[in-house]
Amino acid sequence: MSFRLPAGFWKSFAQDVWRKQPRVFKNVHEGRLFAPPEELFRIAAEETAHLARTAGARSDFGCHISLGKAMIMQDHIRLMPAEGDGSFDGWAARLSREEGREGFMYYMNSAQRRSPLLFQRYREFTEGLFEQIGLPSWKVSTDMFVGDYPETPFGVHKDVVDNFHFVAAGRKRMLLWPYETLLPYVKEGVDARDIDYALQLRSLKDIREQAIVLEGDPGDLLYWPGHFWHCAEGTGGVVATSSCYIDLMYSPLMGLSDVVNAKLRPVEETHPFTPYVPGRHQELAGALPERLRDTTRRVAQGLKELVDGGLEREMELTWLRYVSGGGFLRVPPPASGVVLDEGQALKLVPTSNLVWRDLASGELGCAANGLVETWPASHGLRQTLQRLSGGGAHRVGALLDEAKEELQGSGVVWSRERLREVLTTLVAWRALAPA
Ligand SMILES: [Fe+2]
Repeated sequence: MSFRLPAGFWKSFAQDVWRKQPRVFKNVHEGRLFAPPEELFRIAAEETAHLARTAGARSDFGCHISLGKAMIMQDHIRLMPAEGDGSFDGWAARLSREEGREGFMYYMNSAQRRSPLLFQRYREFTEGLFEQIGLPSWKVSTDMFVGDYPETPFGVHKDVVDNFHFVAAGRKRMLLWPYETLLPYVKEGVDARDIDYALQLRSLKDIREQAIVLEGDPGDLLYWPGHFWHCAEGTGGVVATSSCYIDLMYSPLMGLSDVVNAKLRPVEETHPFTPYVPGRHQELAGALPERLRDTTRRVAQGLKELVDGGLEREMELTWLRYVSGGGFLRVPPPASGVVLDEGQALKLVPTSNLVWRDLASGELGCAANGLVETWPASHGLRQTLQRLSGGGAHRVGALLDEAKEELQGSGVVWSRERLREVLTTLVAWRALAPA
């Protein structure tokens, strides 16, 4: 059953609430819990196990733990929710037992990457919103906040994102203030309207009374526009929320900077020290190291490749990811170990947004669920994608038997094996499922 909300809900939301005012929507999915705490706990524990395996060396999720106003950088893996805790309540109980204190906050960014279930639900949810306001050219992502903290550790702040907050466990309370009302607390000369900004307040004492208070229980949805100042307030016990945010200051092209950075990598290679004689700088100016010239040449060559088409290709692929991911660029990775069963019938998962387009490079880019792949353009590939997106059940063996080899120059651009590769990829992307 879909987590899409009725068109009427989104119509009035777009008209009266979006970017205008905070609001609580009680029991939005009529008794069904959008973000089950068990799923949130599962992905938190999975990420902790991953961090423990890599000794905390690398996380794509920006997880962290805070106590009071401090973010804990050392020893944070031990303090994170772990499988043995059984639940967020178990995790909080362990912390107060072992640390002798309460008030921890656990945060995870891009949580949808760890959970195909949440990713699917968030896309069903945002689908109706985007129908009203358009697909933002901004980043859409989700995060999670869990803890028994008395106040948001980084205090009263505003963001350049709009927030949808689903309560998963406990009672969530948010305090909000319209942008203009707290301007006296903003540092002089700062225009905070279009930036993330946290106020440096010692306590909420002076402003608590003017706050707009939003409260939600499991199943409720809280919304606030990013330009409202906000801060969570504890309600006793552990509160878990899953939130979706729409970034107002992000371009889908931002991902391209990684591609450019990869080309700049030779600059970071180790270079020998240059012999140095104090006072003889004019001599040194004339002796530019050959190695430096080489590196520059290689970087220039790499950047030229980007300018000559590489960057355009990346932009096209990013666009396909964006469209098929419904605005989400960070998505669950493909399932591993997929083996096609020729006797099985497969059908398209309509919410996977299977799409394709001809790239300027001459290849065909194909994407679903925010994942993208390129193959040589061929009649067979186009026909297959068209057939699959037309719906219906397709037996794998029958599809493979129909594949007619196509050649281009001396290369094979379509074959039974290529089709097998395409189908396996689509199953791993969760775009094809057993019929
Ligand atoms: Fe915030």
